[in-house]
Amino acid sequence: MGAHDSHRGDLGGFLREGGSTLFPEEIALLGDLDGKTLVHLQCNSGGDSLSLALLGAVVTGVDISDEAILYARRLSSETGITAEFVRADVYDWLRLTAREERRFDVVFSSYGIVCWLPDLEAWAGGIAAILIAGGRFVLVDFHPAAEMFDERWNRAHAYPFGGEPRVLREGVGDYVAESGAGLTPAGFVEGARDFENPHRSHLFGWGLGEVVTALAGAGLRIVALEEYPYSNGERPFDGMRELPGRRVVPPEAVPAVPLMYGISAEKT
Ligand SMILES: C[S@@+](CC[C@H](N)C(=O)[O-])C[C@H]1O[C@@H](n2cnc3c(N)ncnc32)[C@H](O)[C@@H]1O
Repeated sequence: MGAHDSHRGDLGGFLREGGSTLFPEEIALLGDLDGKTLVHLQCNSGGDSLSLALLGAVVTGVDISDEAILYARRLSSETGITAEFVRADVYDWLRLTAREERRFDVVFSSYGIVCWLPDLEAWAGGIAAILIAGGRFVLVDFHPAAEMFDERWNRAHAYPFGGEPRVLREGVGDYVAESGAGLTPAGFVEGARDFENPHRSHLFGWGLGEVVTALAGAGLRIVALEEYPYSNGERPFDGMRELPGRRVVPPEAVPAVPLMYGISAEKT
């Protein structure tokens, strides 16, 4: 997280001046947030959480990373944008919150979420349990179909199914540096160089159908399931071209494939 955060520039100043780190896709799926209680699960360093607060939501951000939560709390006090940040495992926090009978209008999560989840049913059930009736869950994430390709667009891997465990021996890399301006709306700063992660990562491969089925099975009505043939901010493949608004598209010669998806679901 330290390496990622080292590239973010004056994010505090950017937010203080009313800037937003959010993309149009999640803003459209979330709809009006004014006065809504919102929990941002796996919120990372809090830039999106504070951008949601600027849209009028009363925000709680949850992440398992100490460094991410420390950065998020600092960003909140530096900007004066109010949000509560909790360092917790998402499953533990959902269980505890349901037991305490706390409820939210909106649950939100985005960009690199489902790959960290070993149990989709417990996750979806936990989200349903903390939403008010009529409350909404919004997820925007990278499409599992994109995982079938290597960096050079060769079809190299099977479509992910069943929470198949995957160990990333080299750990999570410095994808913020690799994405340049794509993930640093406040301006890219050189920051950490040649970052090597000493910690391996344990990831889980799920198909899109499994995500949707888990949410529906938890009593959430799917209102929208969008697929997008581009990536927001990140450049996972060779030859990606950046369009305005930090939208990154494949080279013209590559046939369209969904690179992200978005879900809006309602607690019935
Ligand atoms: C790729 S990031 C999400 C990006 C984020 N939306 C942003 O705005 O930067 C994934 C996050 O999930 C968090 N995470 C992974 N497993 C978790 C768990 N079991 N409980 C809570 N957070 C978790 C990581 O610490 C990381 O911050």
